[in-house]
Amino acid sequence: CGIVGYVGNQDAKEILLKGLEKLEYRGYDSAGIAIVNEDGVQLFKEKGRIAQLREVVDENKTGTVGIGHTRWATHGAPSRVNAHPHQSTSHRFTIVHNGVIENYEEIQKDYLQDVTFISETDTEVIVQLIERSMDEGNNVERAFRQTLSLLKGSYAIALLDETDPEKIYVGKNKSPLLVGLGDGVNVVASDAMAMLNVTNEFVELMDQEIVIVTREAVTIKNLAGVTVNRDSYIAELDASDIEKGTYPHYMLKEIDEQPLVIRNIISKYQDENGEVTLAEDIRNAMKAADRIYIIAAGTSYHAGLVGKQLIETVAKKPVETHIASEFLYNMPLVSEKPLFIFISQSGETADSRGVLVNVKKLGYPALTITNVPGSTLSREADFTLHTFAGPEIAVASTKAYTAQMAVLSLLAVDAAKAQEIELDFDPIKELSIVATVMEALCDQKDALEKISRDFLNVTRNCFFIGRASDYYVGLEGALKLKEISYIQAEGFAGGELKHGTIALIEEGTPVIALATQKHVNLSIRGNVKEVAARGANPCIISLEGLNSENDQFVIPKVHEYLTPLVAVIPLQLIAYYASLHRGCDVDKPRNLAKSVTVE
Ligand code: G6P
Repeated sequence: CGIVGYVGNQDAKEILLKGLEKLEYRGYDSAGIAIVNEDGVQLFKEKGRIAQLREVVDENKTGTVGIGHTRWATHGAPSRVNAHPHQSTSHRFTIVHNGVIENYEEIQKDYLQDVTFISETDTEVIVQLIERSMDEGNNVERAFRQTLSLLKGSYAIALLDETDPEKIYVGKNKSPLLVGLGDGVNVVASDAMAMLNVTNEFVELMDQEIVIVTREAVTIKNLAGVTVNRDSYIAELDASDIEKGTYPHYMLKEIDEQPLVIRNIISKYQDENGEVTLAEDIRNAMKAADRIYIIAAGTSYHAGLVGKQLIETVAKKPVETHIASEFLYNMPLVSEKPLFIFISQSGETADSRGVLVNVKKLGYPALTITNVPGSTLSREADFTLHTFAGPEIAVASTKAYTAQMAVLSLLAVDAAKAQEIELDFDPIKELSIVATVMEALCDQKDALEKISRDFLNVTRNCFFIGRASDYYVGLEGALKLKEISYIQAEGFAGGELKHGTIALIEEGTPVIALATQKHVNLSIRGNVKEVAARGANPCIISLEGLNSENDQFVIPKVHEYLTPLVAVIPLQLIAYYASLHRGCDVDKPRNLAKSVTVE
């Protein structure tokens, strides 16, 4: 979910709605805003996107103070009633909340037995508890702080008090929240992007802090009520980076940006002699580690699998890659000198953060590889490597994934150099070739659209197979296809499909096989024969030099270590066209959110 708040001198509605549109990547199943004026709080909410919310907002109601929310449902189905903002019984208090209150049932039982709840959300207990604390003779600030100290879980909250319409109160724990500073106007948002139209000067909040926001001031306090001073910073984000331009979808724009991103990464991590150079503390941490643990979710996890191979092959360090949400239950026996690497586009994924908090408690060093350097995972780790992909807006990750793999390859190279391991390739040259090949692939949209039409038009499922690093790319290809076209897709190790899953192959089932790895080229082609013999419709995507005549698509040659960076591009475009042909919402697929800040 994402939240916004505005205390200023213009009508708040449009600013809140525009802000929420920029936050839709955090969830988009329902939305709402509340503004406050002399007639009290005006509340508008609706199931669906911000576009649907706009239809129910009454243009004639105005107010210069307000809050808003776009939701990714956790407690309670997406509906108007469960949409935020939520109000206390007297309607004096109105709240928006991102996060999950783990002890909401206990709070209901212990303090709010006599309250009639309107929604099924965990959020409603917060606003009811604030009202209840007021009965004890507290002022609003104290009631707010007292309430927050009873909550277990994560929250970014903004609160309106109908009797004091010049203020909003905000609070934060685990979920991200920023305060934006303007001239006679102050704002709050889950992400700076949402308020760039108002200001680019922001203050970060820490966990268990509240802020009282008025037009003239923002006052940060801890939950004990002690004032905290913090400097602001200028967000280095360009508003034009987050526009689609002439593209029909962000996803297509972001796919096309990949060559540029790779060139950007090369220039950022190259020294004046044209050598790969990372920060010395990162180099030392890599050198000191006896084993590396990569932690990530979703597409970033797939980049982590490739990262394992790169670091092991180039830097000769043992690496394990783990799914963040499982790590704490199945924690391996950690080596003596581990280094934890967190890979996260957003830097906010709650599952990854849960592991980071634990790792820091145990005293282990942590490096975050992220596209958002000021993010929670970046701030809380010892070191950060920036992926420089620019804002990624489409929910399905493309350029952030290839950027992560490029940065991982440089990390591997830098760690090899630190250990005086001789490199048998020139990393800068090979990555430049990757960028050029990516460009050539992005120019082949017609061919890939045709493949998408030929193989995926009428199917209900699809398999991706590959061996060695192609297996990992296949996992990502399948995830892309599932996410945006809703075709059931699975990525399999070429040799494993026959151990069960081959039972699902029927006449015409599409099987997309990747063949970019010399040492397994014959075996993967053998696997293609096996599925074809059972009626499958195979589509072979191979690397130049390893291709055979009838392959459906051939990728120009790149260095064998870097094939995943280019092999994924045809899969991204095939998924894109499958989504388009099926009339799906490419950039905002159903049920998903780009940044999942709940566990
Ligand atoms: C969500 C997104 C995925 C993403 C994953 C991890 O599920 O829909 O596209 O890969 O989170 O996100 P992160 O920001 O940590 O890379």
